[in-house]
Amino acid sequence: MSLHKIAVIGGDGIGPEVVEAGVKVLETLADVEPGLAFDFKRFDWGSDYYRRNGRMMPQDGLAQIEGFDAIYFGSVGDPNLPDDITLWGLRLAICQGFDQYANVRPTRLLPGLTGPLRPELGKQIDWVIVRENSEGEYAGVGGRAHRGLPIEVGMDVAVFTRTGIERIARFACDLAMSRPRKLLTVVTKSNAQRHGMVLWDEVVREVVRDHPGLTVDWMLVDAMTQRMVNKPGSIDTVLATNLHADILSDLAAALGGSLGIGSTSNIDPSRNRPSMFEPIHGSAFDITGKGVANPLGSFWTASLMLDHLGEQAASRRLMVAIETVTGRGEFLSPDLGGAANTAEVTAAVIAALSGVNSPGS
Ligand code: IPM
Ligand code: MG
Repeated sequence: MSLHKIAVIGGDGIGPEVVEAGVKVLETLADVEPGLAFDFKRFDWGSDYYRRNGRMMPQDGLAQIEGFDAIYFGSVGDPNLPDDITLWGLRLAICQGFDQYANVRPTRLLPGLTGPLRPELGKQIDWVIVRENSEGEYAGVGGRAHRGLPIEVGMDVAVFTRTGIERIARFACDLAMSRPRKLLTVVTKSNAQRHGMVLWDEVVREVVRDHPGLTVDWMLVDAMTQRMVNKPGSIDTVLATNLHADILSDLAAALGGSLGIGSTSNIDPSRNRPSMFEPIHGSAFDITGKGVANPLGSFWTASLMLDHLGEQAASRRLMVAIETVTGRGEFLSPDLGGAANTAEVTAAVIAALSGVNSPGS
């Protein structure tokens, strides 16, 4: 029996709604998968916590969750608080504090979903975007000066370190090698940004040399957007900087049918500290509390978490259940063109889970 200790942080907006739906699904999985068990502990951190305590999480927050096997996260962001406070106080504080330097974002057009591309193109989408998650444009380096004066200035400095580039490039190469096509596209912008991005290219090129079986091609980030739309089948694994991958992964999620189904893992590959798993979508203030949020992103995320925990059979079983529900098309949320609410989609996945006897075949 493997008991996985999971820290559950619902966060803001629809985060708690979709994460609680995910916990139900995981509990069902534990009932049907021999030897699988979870110990969930909730942490009420986020914007309401901030209103009560003046911080997004306790001072010793990281220490409180450090001993867990994984973190299952909802979303962060509040209409009445500055985004940089909420984000840096919780999600980025965890990603950076735990050195979760690899952010992994898979996209596939799930069965039954159409997405905005022509069907013959849409069905070619099977991508994993690897996002550098610890530095680059999100390093938090910079400053403001001359506040309130006409000469006021604000600077964000993108930080690229040899170590940071090398470790994410190794991660991306290894991931690409583990997939059937062994194909990696490296995204850059070294034509315009001639310091950090040129170092990025140089270090990635060195790492690529250690992977002779890997096919590698290079794209400027602007051209990459066109390729994702026009030639989706030419892409498999993608390596990009923190900001580039942030933007490309939203495009990927849209091409995959909806931002509501995108999933993410923030991984510390050294496994010294827990990794964090979250749906790609944000707080979605417009639908918060209405019970209509699409929980599939949080379920796909749970499947990534299971993979990381070494529970491949359970992970596959959950994906099969998700795909059964999208394939039938009977219980889809409004963002996917359906009319089902969160509870109905959740119930449908739970029913599929209980009925699926030979996962992944
Ligand atoms: C994401 C999100 C975040 C990011 C936001 C909420 C700051 O868009 O996870 O992709 O840019 O990292
Ligand atoms: Mg984003």
